[in-house]
Amino acid sequence: MTNVAVIGSQWGDEGKGKIVDWLSEKADIVVRFQGGHNAGHTLVIDGTKYKLSLLPSGIIRAGKMSVIGHGVVIDPAALINEISTRKGQGVAISPDNLMISYSAPIILPVHQRVDVAREAQRGAGKIGTTGRGIGPAYEDKVARRGLRMGDLLDMDALAEKTAALLAHHNIWLKAAGEDELTVEEITAPLQEMRDQLIPYLGEVWALLDDYRRDGRRILFEGAQGVMLDIDHGTYPFVTSSNTLPGQAAAGAGIGPGSVGYVLGITKAYTTRVGSGPFPTEDFGEDGVTLGERGHEFGTVTGRKRRCGWFDAVMVRQAGKIAGIHGMALTKLDVLDGFDVLKICTGYTLDGKVIDRFPASSAEQARVEPVYEEIEGWSQSTMGARSWADLPSQAVKYIKRLEELTGIPVATVSTSPEREDTILVRDPFEG
Ligand code: GDP
Ligand code: IMO
Ligand code: MG
Repeated sequence: MTNVAVIGSQWGDEGKGKIVDWLSEKADIVVRFQGGHNAGHTLVIDGTKYKLSLLPSGIIRAGKMSVIGHGVVIDPAALINEISTRKGQGVAISPDNLMISYSAPIILPVHQRVDVAREAQRGAGKIGTTGRGIGPAYEDKVARRGLRMGDLLDMDALAEKTAALLAHHNIWLKAAGEDELTVEEITAPLQEMRDQLIPYLGEVWALLDDYRRDGRRILFEGAQGVMLDIDHGTYPFVTSSNTLPGQAAAGAGIGPGSVGYVLGITKAYTTRVGSGPFPTEDFGEDGVTLGERGHEFGTVTGRKRRCGWFDAVMVRQAGKIAGIHGMALTKLDVLDGFDVLKICTGYTLDGKVIDRFPASSAEQARVEPVYEEIEGWSQSTMGARSWADLPSQAVKYIKRLEELTGIPVATVSTSPEREDTILVRDPFEG
């Protein structure tokens, strides 16, 4: 038996939430370790939809512990709102089943203001962030001027730290022609919210150490995906955190040996929200069809996701960078009915064939995909729960993806519903 880390292997929205919820049946504790409410994870259980941003996707199952590690940046208002909306759907959430790290950085209204103002300044070169203040909050953490959840325990000290933080940001806001913020504007809402948040605060590392020593199963839940990783993604069109499984250890407070099996959630085609290179993006009818069949609209911002074919080069590379042991292939059903499917097996860069995604952003923008075509299938795979339910062409497609990426398939997902999932190899068995 081993622990499992779930990460996205593309540009996010691969279906991590659905798979984490499904796997959480066998887990004792589910841990978020990076990102913030830029993440949007949709689960569907017996027809009921649950949208999660900050809460770990294990929160829906009764009897499971959920944890938000210090690697996550927390907007307190967004968290309170999410807890109350989920409670409204009948989900039990209390300090009995949710712990939040004392050391998690707080996203403040100033971060959101800076995020939005900077994007406006970038104009056509904008990153297409979610506008949630994620980047500026991580910057303040690294600059050692950020507030942390534990600061809510001492509001006098928090006010002093806020003054120092604003002294930094107001200079830029003023120069950019934006409204400056006062200490009161930051501290008053925190004062109002602190009583609701303090009961959840705890020492996550100590709790995880207990679970580890008791041999209980830990499921780490990543947000975003490898190609949005701050270091290995399509920089600068990335998010501001490491999305790799190594971050599960660093962002939760546990040794890397406890991370266990790395499950790379992988969409059977490719999508991306926001700006940046996307070699297999399809601007024609097929791209539109993928978007419509896959309902490819962002959970967080409602933006239309850009759609294209499976990029085996990118996923192979993500697999190596992240040490992915197995894939959870999702949204196979969206490919039902295509006569021909394309798979990107390489790129050309200035006329030369290459077998990897280059590190230079200028080169990333110039690569052209090399495709191989494979016959599609006309039968429906929607809701399939075993290999035997899959048409032979769908099995061929999956096998080809395994060959090209070098990553074995551990599970296949065939609809948004929790149970519409084929288990090939149990990640908890290693
Ligand atoms: P995440 O950010 O990786 O958790 O993914 P999102 O929840 O943002 O986006 C995935 C979307 O696809 C959600 O609306 C899911 O309900 C849906 N979904 C997940 N798996 C499948 C699948 O196998 N088939 C179909 N049709 N939809 C799926
Ligand atoms: P989940 O967890 C898809 C993208 C944004 C933008 C870039 C930077 O649902 O897979 P940020 O607000 O993080 O500074 O935006 O990253 N992005 C995501 N795209 N899924 C996500 O999360 C994302 N989180 C951020 O669209 O391009
Ligand atoms: Mg999402």
